[in-house]
Amino acid sequence: MKKARIAVVGAGGIGAAAHLPAVTALPEECELVAIVDLDEARLSAAVEQFGPSRGYADIGEMLAVEKPDITIIATPPHLHEPLAVQAMQAGSWVFSEKPLTGSLASADRLRAAEEETGQWCVTVSQFRYSGGSRQVREALASGRWGRPLVGIAHTSWYRGPDYWEAAWRGKFRTEFAGATTSQAHHAIDLLLWLMGSPWEAVSAFSDTLSRPIEVEDASVASVRFEGGAFASMVSTVLSHNQETRLQVMAEDATVDLNTLYMPLLEEWSVRQTGADGTRTLEDWTVPEEPVQAHRAQLANILMHWRAGEAPELTVAEARETLEFLTALYKSAATGERVQRGEIAAGDEFYEALDAAGPRRAEVRRGA
Ligand SMILES: NC(=O)c1ccc[n+]([C@@H]2O[C@H](COP(=O)([O-])OP(=O)(O)OC[C@H]3O[C@@H](n4cnc5c(N)ncnc54)[C@H](O)[C@@H]3O)[C@@H](O)[C@H]2O)c1
Repeated sequence: MKKARIAVVGAGGIGAAAHLPAVTALPEECELVAIVDLDEARLSAAVEQFGPSRGYADIGEMLAVEKPDITIIATPPHLHEPLAVQAMQAGSWVFSEKPLTGSLASADRLRAAEEETGQWCVTVSQFRYSGGSRQVREALASGRWGRPLVGIAHTSWYRGPDYWEAAWRGKFRTEFAGATTSQAHHAIDLLLWLMGSPWEAVSAFSDTLSRPIEVEDASVASVRFEGGAFASMVSTVLSHNQETRLQVMAEDATVDLNTLYMPLLEEWSVRQTGADGTRTLEDWTVPEEPVQAHRAQLANILMHWRAGEAPELTVAEARETLEFLTALYKSAATGERVQRGEIAAGDEFYEALDAAGPRRAEVRRGA
């Protein structure tokens, strides 16, 4: 089997916990050739734990020497665009952490870089690849449970004050936005993918209710989809009862996911109500091994890479979730319902995910 040479940039939280183990868990399909991190201690710990691979402090030097086939970017969000462009210009595919980037303008620059270089930039959307998600998507898309009518994506997580000790967190310049984008991204992206038709309009509230940070710590949104379905979204890091809850109420069955950080097949259920009451369907799924979700997405990318074909979730597709998030923040700032497609060049929200956020933070600081 043709093996991909992979470099991992960023050996911090998610780099060390998910990406490096994912690469080294697929020895038949890929080889870890380099780790890059500015932090010397993290770099040497990662090289020691995940070697054999060389450690670099500079991505430019690493790209020139190692010429990786795929570069994984697990750095803070404000570096996703510049590092991804650098890697693509060096002839590498990119697999970059969420969020894709900090604005639709930036996403469009990344799309242009894909075209210019002939490389691809894939965004991490691991909930689409973890246990059961694909089976649920296929079952819903087949129509066997009827049309999706109402969706729920509630991300109720808890982050205490120490979470924002990492200098990049909580700030517009480096994180771009808060709970909705950083934490609820997974559930929002998954629900948008499962509902089966594009979202059409969103109406939302978003604010910093409690934490001493610039970005929002809570938002609620109501969404309408083409074809008429609705969804409710709650995104927060203020919940003392942590869960990620997702439902798709289709005409003939309701699909429910009750998880926290990584959906497993057994955390999904499908219920149907008939004349004799409500029953749980047992026959909708085929058993699957639980696989670490980043690894499952990486394996999917490698399959496309070997076939020489475009992977899933390149910039054009990941931009759709980014556009939804941008519209949610615009609605919260303006008090208006925002339609898909309305945010274009010339709109301040085209230039920044939560363009009004810094003004909101300024007012709070003065209060
Ligand atoms: N998919 C998920 O479940 C998930 C979970 C957590 C974080 N994330 C995302 O992953 C990204 C990183 O988050 P984290 O929690 O791992 O952050 P982190 O701060 O723990 O780690 C980031 C690492 O990047 C390194 N770094 C910074 N600038 C660099 C540069 N120019 N070159 C090389 N290395 C550099 C830092 O030294 C640090 O080790 C963010 O985009 C975050 O939103 C995703």
